[in-house]
Amino acid sequence: MTKASDVFKLKNANNVEVTFIGRGGQITGITVPDKDGKLADVVIGYQSVEEALAGDGYFGALCGRFSNRIVKGQFSLEGIDYQLECNNGPNHLHGGSEGFNSRVWDVTPYEESRFTQAYKLSLVSPDGDQGYPGELKVEVVYGLTDENELVIEYAAETSKATIINLTSHAYFNLKGAGNGTIEDQVLELNASKFTPLSAEIGTVTGEITEVKGTAMDFVDAKTIGEACNADDDQVKIVDGIDHNFVIDGYDGMLRLAARLSDEESGRCMEVFTNQPGIQIYTGSHFDGTETGKLGKPIVKWGGVAMETQIFPDSPNKEHFPNAVLKPGEVYKHTCVYKFSIQ
Ligand code: GLA
Repeated sequence: MTKASDVFKLKNANNVEVTFIGRGGQITGITVPDKDGKLADVVIGYQSVEEALAGDGYFGALCGRFSNRIVKGQFSLEGIDYQLECNNGPNHLHGGSEGFNSRVWDVTPYEESRFTQAYKLSLVSPDGDQGYPGELKVEVVYGLTDENELVIEYAAETSKATIINLTSHAYFNLKGAGNGTIEDQVLELNASKFTPLSAEIGTVTGEITEVKGTAMDFVDAKTIGEACNADDDQVKIVDGIDHNFVIDGYDGMLRLAARLSDEESGRCMEVFTNQPGIQIYTGSHFDGTETGKLGKPIVKWGGVAMETQIFPDSPNKEHFPNAVLKPGEVYKHTCVYKFSIQ
């Protein structure tokens, strides 16, 4: 039986190392070389497992059953109205206060030739868990390749019609966690549209808007700071970026969603997914009061989460991608974080 504090490591031929723990499958470290071969841990977090267990439970964690927000925690499915916990103001966030990030996953070694090393993380979520219908059996593979890819593959099956939207919540800082903010790191998104927010609703309005001419335009690469410091209504609502972007050309196959790079270190990370959206969150709520890696404060804009997903509040928006899973179907989600030097 896996314990909350158990630590697992994946390592490849290029000294890339991924560390995670049993609780939430939380990725507590990803160490990658820079242009001179110097290693740094590029995910923000704490200095010890004890602190990780006591601290922000979303750092690097697997989120579910429904990542991101559901308006007023309500949805209807097959004629039944469901009320989920409202754990984020008026809305439901990341599966509730006892979401998958707070569970101890069963971790076992996993072998496949494409991976240098891999683990499988399993969880059975009982019918009614956090208010969601159906018993959900979830399997997630964390696989590291010698091409410096961390592959995250999710699969889930249900006993009753339900909704699902799993994601991984690591915050990246390609200079290395603790080395300031991500303001001068360059982001490019394969997304010409995004789903705008309303401060009153506390999440998406349901509109799908062109990014062109707004701070949310990352079609041509630009620094994250340029957007976070822009005089823009959407930026002001969340003091930075906390938005879902609509991936261009979505067809359920793996495609490039995002590219993040840091000129100083030369580190670059590409995100590939078969999902329709990606939440870009610049960690606007960090206020420097917590101590993170290198003994440095965890600061506002100190890292950027890149969460591949179905759009927020999809269960209540008919024109958003389908988030319903029925018995006999298999939910399949792939997210690849590929590290390189530019
Ligand atoms: C997601 C949300 C953010 C925030 C974090 C958790 O990224 O979009 O608003 O709630 O999760 O800290």
